[in-house]
Amino acid sequence: MVAITLPASPVTRPGARAVMIQDSLDLKNLVAADLELVELAIAKVLGQRPPRLTGIIDHVSEYRGKRFRPLLALLTARVLGCDSPGRVDLAVAMEMMHTASLVHDDILDNAETRRHIPTVHSRWGSQSAVLLGDYLFSHAFVLAARVGDTQVTLEVAETARKVCEGELKQNLEAGNWLLPETDYLDIIEGKTAELMAASCRLMGVHARASDAQCAALDAYGRSLGMAFQMADDLLDLEGDENTTGKSLGTDLEQGKVTLPIIHALAQANDRDKAALLALLKTSGSKNRAALRRPLEAAGSLAYTRRKAEEYVGAARKALASLPEGPHRQALLNAADRALHRAC
Ligand code: IPE
Ligand code: IPE
Ligand code: MG
Ligand code: MG
Repeated sequence: MVAITLPASPVTRPGARAVMIQDSLDLKNLVAADLELVELAIAKVLGQRPPRLTGIIDHVSEYRGKRFRPLLALLTARVLGCDSPGRVDLAVAMEMMHTASLVHDDILDNAETRRHIPTVHSRWGSQSAVLLGDYLFSHAFVLAARVGDTQVTLEVAETARKVCEGELKQNLEAGNWLLPETDYLDIIEGKTAELMAASCRLMGVHARASDAQCAALDAYGRSLGMAFQMADDLLDLEGDENTTGKSLGTDLEQGKVTLPIIHALAQANDRDKAALLALLKTSGSKNRAALRRPLEAAGSLAYTRRKAEEYVGAARKALASLPEGPHRQALLNAADRALHRAC
């Protein structure tokens, strides 16, 4: 394994020691053949469409994300010595559910770009995008059922429910800039961490791992997911659209409250708080730039990175009871990767 130094990313603390982590390609190399099976399975699933749906499905077939959830699922399978065909169906189910949630999320966020190409709704309209998201969720449930384990089928459906609950809670809180931090944590656990927890835990269930190992995998994926979303929230404020391949600044535009904002408002005196709230209430992409200085001054970006680092630490700790080896090491590195990333 070759450790590399990543270039400074927007979520790498300035001045911090160089973060030595494996490049994501390197992480993927360990399960490259399995990831190829995932790509083939995705192409096969999406290829089964009626002719009228060709255009919109081909559009989503062009979506190339990081495949982070299949990566977690497949590395977990290897840690547990599982090489059943079901592991691929499960990994694809996770990616389908994720993509479905993104298609819907982009409508809510009024985002123009996703995975370096136009969002589904900006090209096909919101109505078709809602239906396409439902269609992708349905594929996830069929794939999960194909794994042939009632427990897996049930928990995949429950995961979808929890992701939707998280997105719904967030939507209902839009514009509530004074949202408590505990509510923010609850929202991101639902919308993001649940799916990462499930990607690891359900592979454990499928591989007949012990209850203790499944709980450890759940804890790992959940903590990693929390850090992943905090890093994403930082990218929304200070990331680069060309690198992330998605519209940024949408959290602010849609009144989505993220941890840096919560921290800054909690720290501020009455005058600064009023000024910050006034800035937040004027929507627009200019807010991203205008907010950077007050957020830096309040230490809110650093606070968010510190919080995310704590979750990365918890994720790494949760893996201690799992069998050692290169695949567990890759999961440890993936936890670092969740935070120290530019896309
Ligand atoms: C984006 O997830 C949505 C969040 C949970 C922040 P990813 O960053 O994994 O998106 P893709 O799959 O690489 O496009
Ligand atoms: C994550 O939240 C979305 C889902 C979990 C569906 P964001 O809205 O921050 O994700 P991006 O930034 O659009 O990828
Ligand atoms: Mg979004
Ligand atoms: Mg985001």
